[in-house]
Amino acid sequence: MTKVGIIVGSLRKESVTRKLAENVAELFPSEYETEFIDIGNLPMYNEDIDTEAGAPPEYDEFRSKLDEVEAVLFATPEYNRSMSGAMKNALDVGSRPYGESKWDGKPAMIMSQSPSNLSGFGANHHLRQSLVFLNMHPLQQPEVYIANSFDLIGDDGKINNEGTVEFLQSAVDAFVELVKKFK
Ligand code: FNR
Repeated sequence: MTKVGIIVGSLRKESVTRKLAENVAELFPSEYETEFIDIGNLPMYNEDIDTEAGAPPEYDEFRSKLDEVEAVLFATPEYNRSMSGAMKNALDVGSRPYGESKWDGKPAMIMSQSPSNLSGFGANHHLRQSLVFLNMHPLQQPEVYIANSFDLIGDDGKINNEGTVEFLQSAVDAFVELVKKFK
């Protein structure tokens, strides 16, 4: 079994980013297990509370969960042409202590979404830049930008557009091939 962590950059209950990610989680093959890893309870990263003497329990728990996954799917909304502060904070927490980054060497997939036509392009690329710096291996193609996202989720929480599901399946298939290369 290969475990893939899913991190959602929006914290709100009715998050469309989360709903899209829930749909994507179902597209992985049966030998893949997905786990949503919460980031909403992480205190803002502060080196004063992350010391050799100890770290906040939320940091410890988050880092342990990242230890358990071989790959990470990042699902992000766009906040002011970038990723959300919560997502950036999660990247920072997972990257420390220095030299013990939990992201290092892992394959990643980025999916951005927006209710507008622009599909979170800015968030997608800022996230990609950070992941490359963190020595992750982001899936290069296909890039996953979901535009007009609010129209895509039906009352049942499912994506109501066949073409979008087919596209997301092709992205997951490519991601699975990437993950295999790092096994
Ligand atoms: C936004 N939104 C937004 N949308 C966008 O396409 N580009 C942007 O730069 C921003 N900026 C932005 C900043 C802040 C602080 C908020 C709260 C929102 C709108 C955003 O795309 C919308 O709220 C999405 O619905 C967020 O995703 P969830 O919460 O549904 O997952």
